[in-house]
Amino acid sequence: MSFRTQPAPPARLNRCQLFGPGSRPQIFEKMAASAADVVNLDLEDSVAPDDKETARRNVIEAIGDIDWGNKTVSVRINGLDTPWWYRDVVELLEKASERLDLIMIPKLGNAADVYAVDALATAVETATGRKKRIGFEGIIETAAGFANVGEIAAASPRLEALSLGAADYAASMGMQTTGIGGTQENYYMLGPKDQEPRQKDYADPWHTVMVAIVAACRVNGVLPVDGPFGDFSDDEGYLAQARRAATLGMVGKWAIHPKQIALANQVFTPSEEQVREAREILAAMERAKAEGAGAVTYKGRLIDLASIRQAEVIVRQAEMIAG
Ligand code: COA
Ligand code: MG
Repeated sequence: MSFRTQPAPPARLNRCQLFGPGSRPQIFEKMAASAADVVNLDLEDSVAPDDKETARRNVIEAIGDIDWGNKTVSVRINGLDTPWWYRDVVELLEKASERLDLIMIPKLGNAADVYAVDALATAVETATGRKKRIGFEGIIETAAGFANVGEIAAASPRLEALSLGAADYAASMGMQTTGIGGTQENYYMLGPKDQEPRQKDYADPWHTVMVAIVAACRVNGVLPVDGPFGDFSDDEGYLAQARRAATLGMVGKWAIHPKQIALANQVFTPSEEQVREAREILAAMERAKAEGAGAVTYKGRLIDLASIRQAEVIVRQAEMIAG
């Protein structure tokens, strides 16, 4: 371990973040009754420009009026390149009840973007005497966000989570696709020329930025989250994307339609089998320690002190879900 140890991320569940447009208050109760760990009331790109102010009012009212149970309640504000974001922050912190947990900042490009919202939030909180300090979450969805993800993840102690926003990321990078996440038809390797038929092997165009987000988050005790999967008729595609994200270290994924919630919860809740195996590894390592061994065999494969840390990730997650 480096001299600087890795900070623990916030100890809360973030398996599924369900989004809903702030301009569609009819669905807020359904969001509150859903099985998502986090609800994101949106003021940004799912709200038309003419509806921005109504949406803001709807959201502020709903935060106080609706019983959100034990969910994390988050509001996605407008981007820092728009005329709306500062009033989003000011009015949310002046008028919304303290049930509000997080403000989500889209299109983060550098640490100064986080600093600007932090300064504004701090001023409003101080002026109003608001007791609960608001947390932040952000979206990495631009070339700048990708390039500067390290400084963004370190920018404020308020920051709890960073998500990958696939659609805006693709646009900003100039990627030749209109798909939101998942397999891209033209991103494949072809088998060798002399081997007929030549197999197409689909690779993952989101992989590099996902790993960059996970690393930046883990260095700073921030939760890494996979963002939207647009084709909500493709459950298998969603599951495959979510499983890749979970394998890479992300803790959850967005749902942009209620049918995606169960899919995310399924992938980001360790299975009984995974938990049993993790506990067996910990028990095997306890026995090894008693016998003075650092490495032993478990089901025909090597386990050692690193296996303890791997198994603990799964057991800790299972314990958090259980209680
Ligand atoms: N949260 C909770 N409930 C939702 C919902 C959501 N995001 N989206 C739809 N529902 C409800 C509908 O009200 C409907 O309820 P009912 O059975 O009681 O009538 C049910 O789920 C089925 O909805 P469906 O008809 O399949 O979808 P729709 O056409 O009403 O809406 C979308 C589809 C994609 C427009 C809608 O899901 C949506 O706005 N998603 C979020 C978009 C968003 O926030 N984007 C920003 C982040 S990328
Ligand atoms: Mg976006």
